[in-house]
Amino acid sequence: MIIAVDGPAGAGKGSLCAALEEHFGFARLDTGLLYRAVGMKVLRGGGHPEDAAVAEAAAHALEFSELDDPELRSDQAGQAASQVGAVPGVRAALLDFQRDFASNPPGGAKGSILDGRDIGTAVCPEAEAKLFITAPLDVRAQRRYKELQSRGHEAIYATVFEDMKKRDERDSGRADAPMAKADDAYLLDTGDMSISEVVAAALQFIESKTK
Ligand code: DC
Repeated sequence: MIIAVDGPAGAGKGSLCAALEEHFGFARLDTGLLYRAVGMKVLRGGGHPEDAAVAEAAAHALEFSELDDPELRSDQAGQAASQVGAVPGVRAALLDFQRDFASNPPGGAKGSILDGRDIGTAVCPEAEAKLFITAPLDVRAQRRYKELQSRGHEAIYATVFEDMKKRDERDSGRADAPMAKADDAYLLDTGDMSISEVVAAALQFIESKTK
C-alpha cells in the first residue's frame, strides 16, 4: 500500500507522517529531503540553485548518505530545494528513486508513506490513499517562526512569512509537476486542528480506502 501526502511547508505533513509511520509500520520517505540535499550540494559547490545544468548534475551525483545532514533542515536549504525543484532535469533524476522506494519499501515493510508536493499527482498517481494537507499562510508562517525560536534561532516573523510565500508561489507555479492536490486526494486544512485531530481524520480516510 502507498500513502501519498502532499502540501505546502508548515501544514503539518511531518507530524502527520511520523504518526502514520508509527501506526502502520510502513517505510517513510520525506521527499523534500532529496531536493534539500540537491540544493545544498549546489550551494556548497559554489553554484546557483537555479542553474539547471549544475542542479541536474548534483541530482545525479546525490548519495543516500547525504540525506543525514542536519543542515538540510535549515531555511536556506528549503529555499535552495524549491529552486532546484523547478528544474525538470532534477525532478526526472529523483523520480526513479522515489518510485522504487514506494513500490519496494525497505526493511520488508508492507507499505510506504511518501510526503512532498507532487506525490499524488506525479510520483505515485496509483497510490491507494492520497492526502493534501494545508493551512492558511499566516498560520504556517507562525508555526515555522515559533519552531525556529524554540530551536534558539533568531527569526523575524515578516521574513519567515515572505520566504514561505515565495516558496509556495514557486512550488505551485512551476511548469513541471507543480504542487497540487490530486483530484482524488482528501483535503485537510489543519489551521484550526490539533495534531491528534489531524491524525484521527487522516486515519479514518486511509482506513476507508483499504476496506
Ligand atoms: O517539504 P520540504 O519543505 O522539505 O521541501 C523543500 C522544497 O523541496 C519545497 O519547497 C519544494 C521542493 N520539493 C519538491 O519540489 N517536490 C517534492 N516532492 C518535495 C519537495
